[in-house]
Amino acid sequence: ATKAITLDEGYRNTGACESNITFINPEKGILRHRGYPIEQIAEKLSFIETALLLFEGEVPSPDRLKRFSDLLTANEMLHEGVRQFFDGFPSTGHPMAILSAMINTVSCYQPDVMELEDEDTFDVSAAQLISKVRTVAAAAYKMSIGHPIMYPDPNLSYCANFLHMMFSIPKKVYEPDQDIVDALNLFFILHADHEQNCSTSTVRLVGSSQANLFASCAAGVCALWGPLHGGANVAIMNQLQELHSTKMDLGKFIEGVKQKEYRLFGFGHPVYKSFDPRAKILSAAADRVLAKLGVNDPLLELARRLEDVALNDDYFVSRNLYPNVDFYSGIILRAIGIPVNMFTVMFAIGRMPGWIAHWKEVRDRKSKIYRPRQIYTGPTERSLA
Ligand code: SDX
Repeated sequence: ATKAITLDEGYRNTGACESNITFINPEKGILRHRGYPIEQIAEKLSFIETALLLFEGEVPSPDRLKRFSDLLTANEMLHEGVRQFFDGFPSTGHPMAILSAMINTVSCYQPDVMELEDEDTFDVSAAQLISKVRTVAAAAYKMSIGHPIMYPDPNLSYCANFLHMMFSIPKKVYEPDQDIVDALNLFFILHADHEQNCSTSTVRLVGSSQANLFASCAAGVCALWGPLHGGANVAIMNQLQELHSTKMDLGKFIEGVKQKEYRLFGFGHPVYKSFDPRAKILSAAADRVLAKLGVNDPLLELARRLEDVALNDDYFVSRNLYPNVDFYSGIILRAIGIPVNMFTVMFAIGRMPGWIAHWKEVRDRKSKIYRPRQIYTGPTERSLA
C-alpha cells in the first residue's frame, strides 16, 4: 500500500538523505565539516585542504595535497576549443550563465565523463572543475571588459593564480599582496559547503539520476544564481550602494522592509535561527582586511549601522533574522577589487568542493533516484468527449 503523502513545502522539515559531510545546529549557530568547527577550518586550513577534507573526510597528508595540487595545475588551462566560445558571448552576458554553460562545455572535452566509476577519473574531474572554474570566471570577466583573456600561471597558488587571471594585463602582471590572497582563501573556505542548501540539494538531485559530475554542478550554478540564495551577495551590495548614494534615512529603509516593500538582503536564513557563524567570521575579517589594505569603505560602516538597527528591532528579532554569510562577504570582495556582478560567481567557486563532495556521496552510496511526491490540487477528472 502506498504511504500517505504529507506536504512539507520546500522540504524544510524533511531529511532528504543521510550525509557525513556537514553538520549544522540552527539554534546554536554551529557549522562543522567532517566534525571540525568552521572557526578552526577557517584558521588552520587552506581552501584546497578544505576541499579534500570535504571529499575524503580527512585533512589531506602533505603527499595527498601535493598530488591534488599537481592535478589542479595540470587542469588549469581551457582547451582552445573551449576558450573560443568566449568569442561568441556578448560582453553583457551574465557570468553565472557563462559559468553554467562552460562547465558543460568543458565536459564535452572530457571523453569518459560519464564513466566516473574509479577514484582516478573522479580525482581528475574534481580537479578539472575546481581548477577550471577560476579560469572560466576570470575569462568571463575579461571578456566583459573587452580585455584579452589571461592564461593561468602554473607557478602561482590557487587564489593567487585566480587573481592573476582576473587582474593581470599583457606585459603587466598583477602581484597580489598576501593579505588579499589570504582574504580570498578565507572567502572560499567559508562558502565551501553548507549541508542541503538549495544548490547542493540540486546537485544531489541531478546526480541521483546518475548524471555526470559536470552536468550536476552546472545545475548547482543555476540554483545558486537566485537572489534568495547565492545571488543575495549581489543584492545586498546593490542595496548598500543604493542606500549610500541616495543617503536614504536608515529608519525609513527599515520601515520599508517591515512593510514588506523589499527584503533586507544578507539577513535571514532558511536554517539558522541565530547568527550564521560564517557571518561572524566575515564581519571580523572585513574590519581586518580593510584595515590591512588601508581601504575605508563607507559601505562597511553603513552595513554595521544597518545590522545594529535591525538587531534592535523586534520585527527582525521576533523572526530570528540575523546577518547571514552574504551580509559582509561583499565588503571583502569589493576590497579585493572583484566587480559586483561577479560576486555570485565567487560564491560558486567557493561552493564547488561542497557540490562535488555531495555528488560523490550520492554516487558512492548508489542512492536511489530522488523523486519527491506532491499534494495534487488541480481539477478532478473531466472529459473531452
Ligand atoms: C544563502 O540554505 C543555505 O544554507 C543557504 C546558504 C548556503 O551557504 O548555501 O547559507 C547561503 O543562501 C544565505 C541566504 C541568502 N539570502 C538572502 O540573504 C536573501 C534575504 N533573505 C530572505 O529572503 C530569507 O531570509 C531566506 C530566503 C534566506 C529564508 O527565508 P525563509 O526561511 O523562507 O523565511 P520566510 O521567507 O518564510 O520569512 C519568514 C519571515 C517572513 O515574514 P512574515 O511572513 O513572518 O511576516 O521573515 C521575513 C519574511 O517576510 N523575512 C525577511 C527577510 N527574510 C525573511 N524580511 C525582511 N528581510 C529579509 N531578509
